[in-house]
Amino acid sequence: MAAKLKVGIVGGTGMVGQRFVQLLDQHPWFQVTAIAASAGSAGKTYEEAVQGRWKLSSSIPEDVKGIVVQDASKVEEVAQNVDFIFCAVEMKKNDIQALEEAYAKTGTPVISNNSAHRWTPDIPMVIPEINPGHIEIIEAQRKRLGTSTGFIAVKPNCSIQSYVPALNALLDFNPTTVVASTYQAISGAGKNFTDWPEMLDNVIPYIGGEEEKSEQEPLRIWGSIVNNEIVKASAPLITTQCIRVPVTDGHLATVFVSFEKKPSKDEILSRWLNFKGRPQELELPSAPKQFITYFEEENRPQTKLDRDIERGMGVSVGRLREDSLYDFKFVGLSHNTLRGAAGGAVLIAELLKAEGYIQAK
Ligand SMILES: NC(=O)c1ccc[n+]([C@@H]2O[C@H](COP(=O)([O-])OP(=O)(O)OC[C@H]3O[C@@H](n4cnc5c(N)ncnc54)[C@H](OP(=O)(O)O)[C@@H]3O)[C@@H](O)[C@H]2O)c1
Repeated sequence: MAAKLKVGIVGGTGMVGQRFVQLLDQHPWFQVTAIAASAGSAGKTYEEAVQGRWKLSSSIPEDVKGIVVQDASKVEEVAQNVDFIFCAVEMKKNDIQALEEAYAKTGTPVISNNSAHRWTPDIPMVIPEINPGHIEIIEAQRKRLGTSTGFIAVKPNCSIQSYVPALNALLDFNPTTVVASTYQAISGAGKNFTDWPEMLDNVIPYIGGEEEKSEQEPLRIWGSIVNNEIVKASAPLITTQCIRVPVTDGHLATVFVSFEKKPSKDEILSRWLNFKGRPQELELPSAPKQFITYFEEENRPQTKLDRDIERGMGVSVGRLREDSLYDFKFVGLSHNTLRGAAGGAVLIAELLKAEGYIQAK
């Protein structure tokens, strides 16, 4: 068996970082060899650094407990222990951009959960089942950064996975207008009910910046590479409302959509059932076998029952029916910290390894 690639988690002590640690435990291709965070955590073992703030129900994997957390700003020191990194940090946008570029310039691929570089023209923002071809822009990015091996690739906002996969399977029918309302879990803010007791028995009708991301990022995912830049698609028109609801994990969306060529209900169901992407073709370790699952029951998908479908990497849809104002309406659901964050990023890394962009240094 080939040796595993050495991976670092920058921001490994945070909510998303902990998910990376959990998902990479016993990963067939990747082995965690470095964890970095703020100077406040540096020098502690991982177990000490997350003491009192480990947020997952599974325990801390034995292999990482004793890893000494490094200071993420000491880029060369962290980079020398790894073949590539995942990055999920809570810092100012400019600081994240500079940090990720600094890692890439050491020749280290960076797979990022942060939003800082989502609109940098030569940085691919990828949902591996939908736009795997965007990774081809990495060659142009490497020239700009002056490295033959380093680069940055990012994943999109967690909200859009609850409706974009279902719409993507229907692109042949030219969707023209989409209205989506998202009902988003508190883990999306890096919180649980202990940290955020105000969310118990409550709904907050505002998530800063979320609606713009939810409306614009799908268009970049559906965009194309023109002159070494990713140019966003011009359709469909998307409008959203993003609402915080009292659930731990799972973002649910209600969606209305109209098409230029209106499909039948059976055509839509058949597209969802048969939708497969590059991760399924390549049989990547984290790829869901069935990317989109349709529930016939009227009261599904439910956040608590269905968010873990396909180990949290599948998306669920239900309640497809014709609408009086739009052509159709339906409900979608995805796990925000698995498919929508750390799991989505691990799948990007697997795609990039399989396609030859990430290798042992
Ligand atoms: N939660 C989600 O569902 C979700 C989904 C998609 C994307 N994201 C994005 O992922 C990123 C992390 O989110 P999170 O929820 O995991 O946040 P979090 O729980 O607050 O964790 C933040 C991480 O950043 C580190 N950090 C803070 N300041 C730093 C600095 N100056 N230098 C280096 N590291 C620093 C923290 O280290 P210390 O422990 O040492 O402070 C910690 O590891 C954010 O950009 C967020 O927008 C989150």
